[in-house]
Order: sequence, then C-alpha cells, then structure tokens
Amino acid sequence: MSYQVQIADTDHQFEVEADESIIDAAMRAGLMLPYSCRSGTCGTCMGQVMEGQIHYPDGLPPAIDPDQDGEGKALFCQARADSDLVIQVGEVREAGDIQPQRLPARVERIEECAPDVRRLFLKLPRDKRLPFLAGQYIDFLLRGGQRRSFSLANAPHDDEWLELHIRHLPGGVFSGHVFNDMKEGALLRFEGPLGNFFLREDSDRPMILIGGGTGFGPIKGIVEHALHLGVTRPMHVYWGARAKVDLYLDELPERWASEHANIHYTPVLSEPAADDQWSGATGFVHEKVLADHPDLSGHDVYMSGPPPMINAAREGFIAAGLPADHLYYDSFEAAPE
Ligand code: FES
Repeated sequence: MSYQVQIADTDHQFEVEADESIIDAAMRAGLMLPYSCRSGTCGTCMGQVMEGQIHYPDGLPPAIDPDQDGEGKALFCQARADSDLVIQVGEVREAGDIQPQRLPARVERIEECAPDVRRLFLKLPRDKRLPFLAGQYIDFLLRGGQRRSFSLANAPHDDEWLELHIRHLPGGVFSGHVFNDMKEGALLRFEGPLGNFFLREDSDRPMILIGGGTGFGPIKGIVEHALHLGVTRPMHVYWGARAKVDLYLDELPERWASEHANIHYTPVLSEPAADDQWSGATGFVHEKVLADHPDLSGHDVYMSGPPPMINAAREGFIAAGLPADHLYYDSFEAAPE
C-alpha cells in the first residue's frame, strides 16, 4: 500500500509506502527534508500536516507533545502515512539550511583501492544521521585542535555509511594514521557537513564534472545523487590522474557512461606508466576539457582537486566563456603538519 505526499506551495510530490517514514520516502525520491537524529528525539524534522492522516508506529515520539500533535504538527522521521498527505515543511536546498554537527563515527571498513588511496567507510551511532548535500565535506577533529578535511563520496540518499577517499600524504598526520595503524572499529570525531560545493539542482545546463586524484570522491557523490534524482542533463565526467593505477574506481564512471546516454566519461593521465599501455587522453585534465568544450558559456562546471589544477582550470574556463557563477569548485590543499 502506498500514498502520495505533496509538499505544500511546491510542485514536489513523492510516494510513501505505508510502512516507511515520510523522510525516508522523500530521500528515496531525491528530496531532502530537514532532519538530524531520525529517531524522534530532536524535533528537527517537525512540520505540519495540512491534509490527511498519519500515525506513529511506536506511539508519540519524545520530541513532539500532545498539544503539537493535536495542532497537526508531525515528526516526519517517525510519522507513517495513513492516507494521501499534503505537508508543509522547509526543504533543504542550500548548505546554510543544514546546521553542522559534531559527531562520533566508527570506522566500519578500510578498502585499499590504489597503493596510496584508501576508501574509508564510517558508521554513525545508531540514533544519529548526517544530513548533507552531495559534494560537501567533513572535518575530522584531531588532538590538539587540529582538523583534517575530507569530502563525502557517497550520495545523501545512500547514507548507511559515510564514504571518504583518502590519499596518503608523506608525513601526513591523519592520512598516515589511516594507512599505518588505523583499525576497523576505531572511533573518530568529526564536524560536518561543511562547504558550498554541492549539486545545484535547479539548473538545466549541461554539466562538466572534473575530479583531480581523490577529488573524484565528491564528484562521485554528486553524480550518484543526480542519477538518483533522474537528472537527464548531459554530464561529462573527467578524471585527471597521474597514471592508470591512480584511477582507483575507473570501472564506476565507465559503468555510468555505459548505462546512461546522458553521461560521458573521459579519464586523462598526466604521466602514464610505461606498462599502462594507455591510448586515452594525456596531459592536464583542464586542457582536455577545453579541447572538448571550447565554448563553455552554456555549461555548469563542478571541479574538485588540488589548488594548481583548480587555479589553472578556473582561468582557462572563464576565458572560454564560462560565467563565474556557474563554476563550482572544491580546492583541497594538503594541510600543514
Ligand atoms: Fe530528530 Fe525527527 S529528525 S526528531
């Protein structure tokens, strides 16, 4: 049994199964409603039921009192629909709509995907969830007040774990820990989500998405989110790396491109190894983008990578007609030790 939920004053509607929460159904449909704990204790997800009926499978949750319940207010992380609904709730559209939180996280899995790259999967405590926009980052909080920033590589709807791509920096405090002695089950603390690098969903311009090295991480999150939303805008994904071994998830963008007619994928190597037998694009990734798209005046460009790549690309792209307000980037610098 399923019902339709209409968000009042918008043209957004989605289907909810009788046994799933309104928030889960909204996320499944690619809509982000405000939430934090997703367990009925914080009140962040409270909104108004304008039409229709809901119930709570485990009784009235702690963050709503009987008076509020009587006025038609509801906690959408717990409420289940008993009919079609019209609800009033603020959608999360901007980074500023989400309050960063400080949370503990357990290392669930560490995957070796290249000699100097690990995928880290983090699990939050059972009663905590992290709302975020695809492409944002978190800061690990280290001893002595130090922080290390890493982009989220998963999409918001796929939030069972937080996924991060970490490159080993020689002498790096945090990356050294990840590579040398971090064990699965280790506890970390972080603050997030942070940053203004996220998918602008209200544009219909073709997108160019560029990852440099582990800058592929947030690009992955953005593309997976766009696919989940059913975005049909053309997306050309570029991944710039030194050698073939550095394209540590190459099969994933190749699969996007083979399964979706609107996605193209171009890997670009700056220093292919002799035994790579590379017949693809070589050189700097932004130069390949410009060769393929000499006129960028009609595009949105998203790029994530080290500052030299970002700076060179920004200059070239603006010269190719890209309006500055259609360029979104995430420039990550190796933190001083
Ligand atoms: Fe905390 Fe619903 S998200 S009460």
